[in-house]
Amino acid sequence: MSVRITALTDPDTILSSHRLVWLASDTDGIPVGSAFLRLYTSTGQDHLAALELHVHPAERRNGTGSRLLDAAIAAARQDGRRSVITQAEAGSPGDRFLPARGFRRVLTLTFTRLSLAEADITALTEITDQSHPGYLLASWEGTVPDGLAETFVASRHAMDDMPMGGTDFGTVTWDLDRVRAAAAAVERRGDLLHTVVAIDESDGSIAGFTELVVPGDGKGDGQHYGTGVLPKHRGHGLARWMKAASIREAHERHPDLGGLLTDTADNNPYMRHINDALGYVPMHTTFEYQLDL
Ligand SMILES: CC(C)(COP(=O)(O)OP(=O)(O)OC[C@H]1O[C@@H](n2cnc3c(N)ncnc32)[C@H](O)[C@@H]1OP(=O)(O)O)[C@@H](O)C(=O)NCCC(=O)NCCS
Repeated sequence: MSVRITALTDPDTILSSHRLVWLASDTDGIPVGSAFLRLYTSTGQDHLAALELHVHPAERRNGTGSRLLDAAIAAARQDGRRSVITQAEAGSPGDRFLPARGFRRVLTLTFTRLSLAEADITALTEITDQSHPGYLLASWEGTVPDGLAETFVASRHAMDDMPMGGTDFGTVTWDLDRVRAAAAAVERRGDLLHTVVAIDESDGSIAGFTELVVPGDGKGDGQHYGTGVLPKHRGHGLARWMKAASIREAHERHPDLGGLLTDTADNNPYMRHINDALGYVPMHTTFEYQLDL
């Protein structure tokens, strides 16, 4: 089968990145695969590109994935990128394709899920009711309220030392525009962003946060985004406290929600321990792959 690769224009430009797209189609013009290459543009990540590659299951092992990949890699090189990252589930065709095409595994992520029907709400309530002297919990929907905006931006540094294995991820620089753009992107998709924070009562600053995204119709599964505690506030049980509060609030507000998903790096024992203790059950393992250009 002869396959044609066409570069498309992607209007999906956001504050910190834009994407290039290629479509693979057969001789009748029927799409058989696609590649998306996200080029990060912010300082600290402008060496990086992230790839999403798909070939229709009926059209695989015909070299289409390789041709799409060649187009994406050539564009990444031309743009002066140093690394291309992508993900594949353990044991999937992608997990075999990527090493065959020069990528190496740099991080192992375990995806876990908490079924809300099976969540131990009494135990979660006990956790959220525990007092943490010097700290109090607060939460909001959507964009950070103006009064907490500045300290919320500063608290994003809690993610600076998140274990990333060998991933050439660079550094994400947060400012208020970026925080607001991230919240706006969730809202534009029709999803709901729910944030719980722990506030240091001595100065009113945010010591840590946890973010959860729930589908707009309140059905299916929610997805935890980041959970982070600033280094000087670690070791006080704040992450477990905030995450338990986030689960309880989701359970109360969205009675039709099935479960909550989270993914954690295998080399992040603290977060894994918290998730295990809260009742999250492993679903699958995904590898982060990287090609060094
Ligand atoms: C991964 C994927 C894009 C590969 O597309 P493809 O068109 O089948 O890939 P190619 O035909 O170019 O394969 C190139 C080489 O990769 C390896 N490979 C690809 N799929 C494989 C599989 N299922 N088992 C073993 N090796 C495989 C082989 O070495 C193959 O060469 P060969 O066919 O001469 O033996 C496709 O399986 C897919 O869409 N998977 C789901 C999405 C995904 O995982 N994307 C990757 C991360 S973004």
